[in-house]
Amino acid sequence: MVSYDSWANLADQFVDEAYASVKGFVRTFVLHHHLLEHLPPPPASVLDVGGGAGHQSFPLAQAGYDVTLLDPSQAMLNKAERRLQQLPTDAQHRVKLLQADGESADEAVDGQRFAAVLCHGVLGYLENPEVLVNQLCLCAAANGLISIMTGNAKAMAVRPALERRWDDALASFDARAEVGVLGVPGRADTVDELSELLKSQGVEPLRWYGVWLFVDWLEFSGAELDPNDSKQVSMTAAVELEASRRDPYRQLSRVFHLVGRKNIS
Ligand SMILES: C[S@@+](CC[C@H](N)C(=O)[O-])C[C@H]1O[C@@H](n2cnc3c(N)ncnc32)[C@H](O)[C@@H]1O
Repeated sequence: MVSYDSWANLADQFVDEAYASVKGFVRTFVLHHHLLEHLPPPPASVLDVGGGAGHQSFPLAQAGYDVTLLDPSQAMLNKAERRLQQLPTDAQHRVKLLQADGESADEAVDGQRFAAVLCHGVLGYLENPEVLVNQLCLCAAANGLISIMTGNAKAMAVRPALERRWDDALASFDARAEVGVLGVPGRADTVDELSELLKSQGVEPLRWYGVWLFVDWLEFSGAELDPNDSKQVSMTAAVELEASRRDPYRQLSRVFHLVGRKNIS
């Protein structure tokens, strides 16, 4: 059972501030479009591990998917519950909230197998991602999708350089950890290593993407992006989606999104 809620102090900052920004909008938009390229048509079951306030999986519930959101943090689940009340009633009925650590996901879902298992923005907070990745792969049905978003260890110098912290930038090229934008230490992975880890669990990597790029460059170099300028925001999101799919842009994104499919046997 979950005891200490380490996300209690971060919930407001993450849900009410980060997601209210242009970058937050781009994150949801881009990941949602990537997922729709691979998901089976609804209805199908989706498990969102470390799902937080549901920014990634509630849009899937609205699109007709049956969502189980699992998170250890009561503070984040409270935010999810509040956001859930804003959804249309039929979508609300397609969402189940569960309190548990991702490391015991299989037990928490009573052995259910899902058409897709999401884990976005969670691995970076764990010292070792292996146990959680094992659980993600275990909870996917045969032919099911695994969707992981996490920090890109190949792009660690981007943020300090854009903030003109040149000493930090020089020291970051081979770094694996940094204090992230929420002010807590985070770890980064590489696409290659995470792909190997998935393969060892019977999951074939299908495609990887960047998540956002130009909004980081603008924000870290001091530009103000107005989340209420809907025309600018939707054009920004369209450009970011295109960049997320292509080299060399995706390689410089500070975050990557890896999608894999579980082997049939
Ligand atoms: C940055 S938030 C991401 C939330 C959501 N996935 C999203 O993309 O909006 C990180 C989430 O991971 C959750 N978390 C932290 N440790 C976890 C663990 N061991 N297993 C599952 N979730 C965890 C936190 O409670 C928090 O809700």
